[in-house]
Amino acid sequence: MKSNFHFKNKKELGAVLRTYSLPTVETLIKTYNYLFSMTTEIYYFSGTGNSLYVAKELQKLIPEADLIPIAGVLKSDNIKTKGDNVGFVFPCHGLTIPIPVREFLKKVNVKSSDYFFAIATRGGTIFRGFPIIDKFLNKQGKSLNATFVINMSMNDPKLKSFTVPTKEESKDIEINVQQKLEVIKKTIIHQENYQDDISGVTFSRFGLFNYILERLIPFLVHRVAGKVKNYFYSDSKCTGCGICEKVCPSQKITMEDNKPLWQRNVDCYMCYACLNFCPTEAIQIYSKIYMKSYTPERGRYPHPYATADDIAGQKWFINFIV
Ligand SMILES: Cc1cc2nc3c(=O)[nH]c(=O)nc-3n(C[C@H](O)[C@H](O)[C@H](O)COP(=O)(O)O)c2cc1C
Ligand code: SF4
Ligand code: SF4
Repeated sequence: MKSNFHFKNKKELGAVLRTYSLPTVETLIKTYNYLFSMTTEIYYFSGTGNSLYVAKELQKLIPEADLIPIAGVLKSDNIKTKGDNVGFVFPCHGLTIPIPVREFLKKVNVKSSDYFFAIATRGGTIFRGFPIIDKFLNKQGKSLNATFVINMSMNDPKLKSFTVPTKEESKDIEINVQQKLEVIKKTIIHQENYQDDISGVTFSRFGLFNYILERLIPFLVHRVAGKVKNYFYSDSKCTGCGICEKVCPSQKITMEDNKPLWQRNVDCYMCYACLNFCPTEAIQIYSKIYMKSYTPERGRYPHPYATADDIAGQKWFINFIV
């Protein structure tokens, strides 16, 4: 449907309506958005299903929303967003955005979109990744309008503090997620600005120590972590089922003689899908001198609704939109 009014975009119309302080401004915006079918693209990345769950639930709440897997479109050289609203949903990795999300932001052309939001799911630490996204968008004259963090289950069994959530804990998290999604939905539909509180658990009581770590860890995640050799191994519990190879979004794992091989020349996305979806818990992280790995003693965490097929599916997206 075409409009007779000449606004550059829907945001501009919203701004005009707000300028004149019309009493029914929200109703008019809502009606306009409804009539002219605002479209939303939700780009997501997920290792163990938390972010996938959030992305899928959000899609249900927003009219005309498409889900697009970042791992699937990443190999294309011509990625262009088309939605009026564009969102990025992903896990917090080492206080920042995951490696593939950063790679995606380096390539994606966002010039046709007006409104941008980002949702980081996390275990509970501070999240420092939103300015990085904003910086990439700024290069194309755009900026991040709304940012959200959602606390969910931790999926990192190398940590001493890791525990598998009980059913009750998972249920509580789901209730919180649904409440947060209501706020997110309203913000996006009205194209509002929103800045969530990014604070969270700190590493120690010493401010200077935190200051250093909060800058060092994101740096190491983006520059070093994906390239570390001999990070994972499979132990004697491996049955050769190939699930780890199937779920790996970076295609780092190949099966050789019925055992997974983490190829040295392929970067790891650090998503821990292989570790958490292995049905026999045979995948372990090597203990390093500076950090003991507790994977042999801990359980594993995939999101209760996520299957290995769901995670594997994100790398095979046929990209009609690029
Ligand atoms: C390598 C790695 C690093 C992580 N770093 C953090 C972190 O710094 N802070 C945090 O709160 N959670 C951290 N987490 C936990 C995840 O952000 C959290 O469990 C997330 O919801 C997982 O989402 P996914 O299931 O979509 O992959 C980390 C997880 C992994 C695998
Ligand atoms: S998922 Fe586990 S059991 Fe299956 S091949 Fe990989 S390491 Fe072996
Ligand atoms: S090797 Fe494991 S952690 Fe690395 S990208 Fe593949 S599935 Fe994710």
